[in-house]
Amino acid sequence: MSREEIISEIERLRSEINRHNYLYYVLDSPEISDGEYDSLMQRLLKLEAEHPELVTPDSPTQRVGAAPLESFSTVKHPVPMLSLSNAFDESDVEGWYNRIVKLAASNEFDFVCELKMDGIAVALTYENGKLVTGATRGDGLYGENITHNLRTIRSIPLTLPPGAPSYFEVRGEVYIAKKGFEALNNYRSSKGLPLFANPRNAAAGSLRQLDPRLAAARPLDIYIYMLGYTLDDALPTSHWERLQYLKDLGFKINPNNRRVSSIDEVKDYHSYWVKERQNLPYEVDGAVVKINQIKVQQKLGSIGREPRWAVAWKFPAIQATTRLKEIKVSVGRTGTLNPYALLEQVKIGGVTVKQATLHNEEDINRKDIREGDTVIVQRAGDVIPQVVGPVLSKRPADAKVFSLEQKLFNAQKQAPVCPECGSYIVKPKGEVMYYCPDATCPAQARQRIEHFASRDAMDIQGIGEQLSVSLFGKGLVKDFADLYYLTEADLFKLENTKDKKAKNILDSIEASKQKPLERLIFALGIKHVGIETATLLAGHFKTLDRLMSATSEELTAINEIGPKIADSILAFYKNESNRHIIQKLYHAGVVPSQPVEKGQETKPLSGLEFVITGKLNNFSRDEAEKRIKEMGGSTKSDITRKTSYLVTGAEPGSKLEKARRLGIRQIDEQGLLELLGRH
Ligand code: IVH
Repeated sequence: MSREEIISEIERLRSEINRHNYLYYVLDSPEISDGEYDSLMQRLLKLEAEHPELVTPDSPTQRVGAAPLESFSTVKHPVPMLSLSNAFDESDVEGWYNRIVKLAASNEFDFVCELKMDGIAVALTYENGKLVTGATRGDGLYGENITHNLRTIRSIPLTLPPGAPSYFEVRGEVYIAKKGFEALNNYRSSKGLPLFANPRNAAAGSLRQLDPRLAAARPLDIYIYMLGYTLDDALPTSHWERLQYLKDLGFKINPNNRRVSSIDEVKDYHSYWVKERQNLPYEVDGAVVKINQIKVQQKLGSIGREPRWAVAWKFPAIQATTRLKEIKVSVGRTGTLNPYALLEQVKIGGVTVKQATLHNEEDINRKDIREGDTVIVQRAGDVIPQVVGPVLSKRPADAKVFSLEQKLFNAQKQAPVCPECGSYIVKPKGEVMYYCPDATCPAQARQRIEHFASRDAMDIQGIGEQLSVSLFGKGLVKDFADLYYLTEADLFKLENTKDKKAKNILDSIEASKQKPLERLIFALGIKHVGIETATLLAGHFKTLDRLMSATSEELTAINEIGPKIADSILAFYKNESNRHIIQKLYHAGVVPSQPVEKGQETKPLSGLEFVITGKLNNFSRDEAEKRIKEMGGSTKSDITRKTSYLVTGAEPGSKLEKARRLGIRQIDEQGLLELLGRH
C-alpha cells in the first residue's frame, strides 16, 4: 500500500469503528457481531503499530492509551455547574410552578421531564470537533480534570461530525448500571476488596482513579442532560431541541425524557416513574423538571447555586422487607460503638443489600427492632440502607430485645468490652453512644490513618481503606504522623505497591505537607470537628500551635463553637500521645499553608495558569498577560500538567500539540475575552 492508501485506510477504519461504537454504546443496536468489530479493531491496531507516527489521540484505539497521572489538575468551568433545588411532593412542585409563573410574568412555556440519574455530574469540552477536557463538578466553579478516565467511556464520543460548534461544553451524568454494579461488587468480594455501598459511589470511585486502565475496567456509562456552554449563538432555542441536536451530534440522551405542556402532565410523568423505576436498568432518585424555553430560563436565572427554571422532584425511598439475622457492633474512628444489622440478603430497587445501619441502642429500642425480626429496610438517594422498623405481625416468639452491653459482655472480665481491643466500654453522661475509650484500639487507629489521608483531609492519593489496613497491620504506620516517615522500601513490602505506585504515594504524601491549615485540623480527627468547624478554627487561630494552646473561653468566644466542641479540642491536646503525634508531624516538615484571608480568594481567575500560543488580534501578548494577571491568573511560557488553559491565536505553535496530549483545555481569543469579560 502507498502511504496515501495507508492513511485513507486508517481513516476509514476509524470512522467505521466510531460508527459501530455509536451503534453499540449509544443507540444500543449493534449492526455487526463482536467478532467482526474485533477484527476491525485488530486491523486498525496493526496499521497503527506499523505506522506509529499516524496514531492520534482521538483514534478509537487510544481510549485507554493515556499514561497514569500523578495527581489531578483543576479545571475552571466556563459557567458554574449548578445543582438543583428539591421538591418532595405535589405541593412543593405546585409552589415552584406558581413562583415561576409570577416571576416570568407568563405561563407561555412548556416543560421537559427527565429522570434524575444517580451518578456523578461531568462536563465535557469539545474543540474543533474533538474531546479536549472532561471534568467533575467539584465545587461548581472548579472541578477536577478527569479527561483520561472519561475518554475510556465508550458512549462518550471522542470526535464529533463536521458542523459541530468549534468550542462547546456538554454536561451529563456518569453512572454505573445496576447489573454492572453487582458484577463489580461480586468481583471485589471474590478478591477480598472492600465493596462499594451503591452504584453512585462506585462511579465516583472509578472516576477518581489516576490510572485510566482502572477506570476502563469499570462499567461506566453516561447520559448527557444539557448543553453547558458554547460560543455559537445559532443554536436551537429550546432545551428539548438542544437535546435532539446533541443526540444528532452522537451524544447519548436518555430516551425516557419527555416534553410536556402542563403541570398535570409533569405529575403523570413523576407518578409513572415512581412505580416503574424498579424496572430501569440504572438507579434514579427523582424526576428533573426543566422549563423548555431557553429565553424563559434566562429570564428566571438562578438563586445561589440553584437555577429557578428547574427542580428535582425526588422519588420516595424504596423499601423492602427481610429478616434481621443479627445486630453486630463495629468500632468507628472516634471510638463510637456502632450497631448495625446483618440482614438476610435482599434486593432493594435492584441492588443487593446485606447490611444496614442502626443508629444507637436507644433508637433501636424506641423502634422496637429485635434480632430475628422481619424488618422494613430502605435506601434513599445515596445513603447507606437503613432499618425503618419491624413487621410486628411476623415477629417470632424468640425475637431478642437488643442490649449493647449484653452483646459485648465478656464472661472472663464480667463486663462489656470493645469487640476489637477488649477495653472496657464507656457511655458518657448525656450521650446516646457507647465508646471504646482506648485511642490505641487498632480499629480506631487504622481508621484515623484512613481519615487523615482522605479526600477532604490531607488528600493523600493511594491511601484508602485497603492500604491503611495493610500499613497498620504490618506495623509500618502506627499513627498518621508515621506516614511522613514511610520509605519506598516500606511500601515495597506491601503487595501491589511497587515502582510507580509507591512513587506516586510518596509524592502525594510529600505534597500534603503544605495543605491548608483547615485540612490539617480536620485530618487530626478531633471528635465533633468536621471540615466546616476546622475551617472556622483555621481562620480564627491561623496556626495549629495557637489553636492547641487556646483556652475554653477563647474557643467558645467563636460564635459557632459551643462547649461540646471546645471540650473535645481541649481533651485532644491534653492527651500526651496526640501531642507527640503533632510533634512528629512538625518534625517531618508538615507546615500547613495559611488560610486565605476573606476577600483575597475571590479574584475570578485565581489559581488558573495560562499559556498563550500564536498571534492574537485584539491585544498584544503583553497586554493579554497583564489582563490575566489583573484577574488573579498567572501566565507561563510552557505547557505543563498544571496549565489550566492554552490560549490559541492564529498559527499556533507546537504547544497546541502538547496541550492536546496532556488534555489541557484550549480556548481561542474569543474564549479568553469571554473569560476576562464575564467578570
Ligand atoms: S440538570 C442546572 N438533569 O443532579 C441544572 N441534573 O442536584 C443542573 N442530575 O449535579 C442539572 N440527572 O449531577 C440535571 N437529568 C438531569 C440529571 C441531573 C441527574 C444530577 C446532576 C446535578 C444534580 C443536581
